[in-house]
Amino acid sequence: SRPPAGGEASPEKLLVPVLSAFWDQPESWTLETYRRHEGYEGLRKALAMSPDDVIAYVKDSGLRGRGGAGFPTGMKWQFIPQGDGKPHYLVVNADESEPGTCKDIPLLFANPHALIEGIVIACHAIRAHHAFIYLRGEVVPVLRRLHEAVREAYAAGFLGKNILGSGLDLDVIVHAGAGAYICGEETALLDSLEGRRGQPRLRPPFPAVAGLYACPTVVNNVESIASVPAILTRGKDWFRSMGSEKSPGFTLYSLSGHVANPGQYEAPLGITLRQLLDMSGGMRRGHRLKFWTPGGSSTPMFTDEHLDVPLDYEGVGAAGSMLGTKALQCFDETTCVVRAVTRWTEFYAHESCGKCTPCREGTYWLVQLLRDIEAGRARMADLDKIADIADNINGKSFCALGDGAASPIFSSLQYFREEYEQHITGKGCPFDPAKSTLWA
Ligand code: NAI
Ligand code: SF4
Repeated sequence: SRPPAGGEASPEKLLVPVLSAFWDQPESWTLETYRRHEGYEGLRKALAMSPDDVIAYVKDSGLRGRGGAGFPTGMKWQFIPQGDGKPHYLVVNADESEPGTCKDIPLLFANPHALIEGIVIACHAIRAHHAFIYLRGEVVPVLRRLHEAVREAYAAGFLGKNILGSGLDLDVIVHAGAGAYICGEETALLDSLEGRRGQPRLRPPFPAVAGLYACPTVVNNVESIASVPAILTRGKDWFRSMGSEKSPGFTLYSLSGHVANPGQYEAPLGITLRQLLDMSGGMRRGHRLKFWTPGGSSTPMFTDEHLDVPLDYEGVGAAGSMLGTKALQCFDETTCVVRAVTRWTEFYAHESCGKCTPCREGTYWLVQLLRDIEAGRARMADLDKIADIADNINGKSFCALGDGAASPIFSSLQYFREEYEQHITGKGCPFDPAKSTLWA
């Protein structure tokens, strides 16, 4: 049933282990374990339905993309033109790299068949015969496990020719990327998959119209696709009984930072960070929350004033941030906000693909100024300068990486301007490096 809003529910009742239900079981990643837990039942249901009915069902469930943007999954599938004579492709974005985000990689490691089953259902729906999983190349153990799961699925007749006697033919290709954050941007990912340097393409056309090899392509996040089998098996009403009207369902939250028990927590959309901290043991002993991100560093940061903001697209949006990847990075009072923002900005400058000037030059310039501020070498006017540079990146860059780089600058200045000023007037960082984990 729908969990009560605010802090009314007892913490443990908020957990809804679906994708993570048997992660702790021995050999959770095998086909045998998966089939003991309703595995491939959703596929049987989907194959008994017409492709259009599957799309309508997923659309009615209200599932929204779990990669960050929250675009309705069924609607994205519906964009694929039918009867166009072109091949259609499904590309699964498994290039998880948003700072603090660690849900897709653990999911693939512990339960890869949920993704494979979701892929077959999605390909039936969009009438595709080829699917690609673009995985972050560094995670070699996950790559091996994924290869093995695909092999098992072929051997059991869930992939290949005439799947379960339905007439559907489907091949799945697992591709390892080379570890560039920008290749998580969907069009850069497609360029990379085609063998080119991964850089964003102009949108429109969106991939649904001209994607991989210029053909209609659905690009979905791992968690989005892996959530589909449970929706088919347990029903769209069950899915809609969780979360809110516009953000229904369960989801994986990545909790990290100065918390007692970091990890992945599966619960309905719309719960609050206060509830998540209650159920997970809170902040590390003797410390209090100072600031946090609702969806990785690309989303504007929050403070302890925002502990009761519902973690769904509307709630977080109304409070001035974005839900993003649901990567809740929590920082306690020992953390220097200037240090944290400098570290994030160094990341964006390093990962900027260099295609557009505001991001390429702006992130480089921001890093120089932030380092000066942190070291006590800056002037007060430099605070207006970093705000101005961020303003010239935000909304003026070619892709979302630029906006993501600007967001911690804006929000940290909004909530912690005094701390920036202290660095300048005190000619250095007022925090003791020995007491924080950020200097490592
Ligand atoms: P977006 O809002 O531009 O697009 C979302 C999806 O909807 C895309 O697949 C796009 O093709 C599709 N779409 C949007 N309008 C469409 C239309 N008119 N016709 C057809 N399709 C349409 O968001 P974007 O730039 O793709 O992603 C940004 C998000 O990615 C951010 O919210 C951020 O949180 C997240 N992100 C996630 C990372 C991760 O590691 N999972 C890394 C970095 C960012
Ligand atoms: Fe490349 Fe940054 Fe421009 Fe995106 S915003 S295209 S990452 S330079």
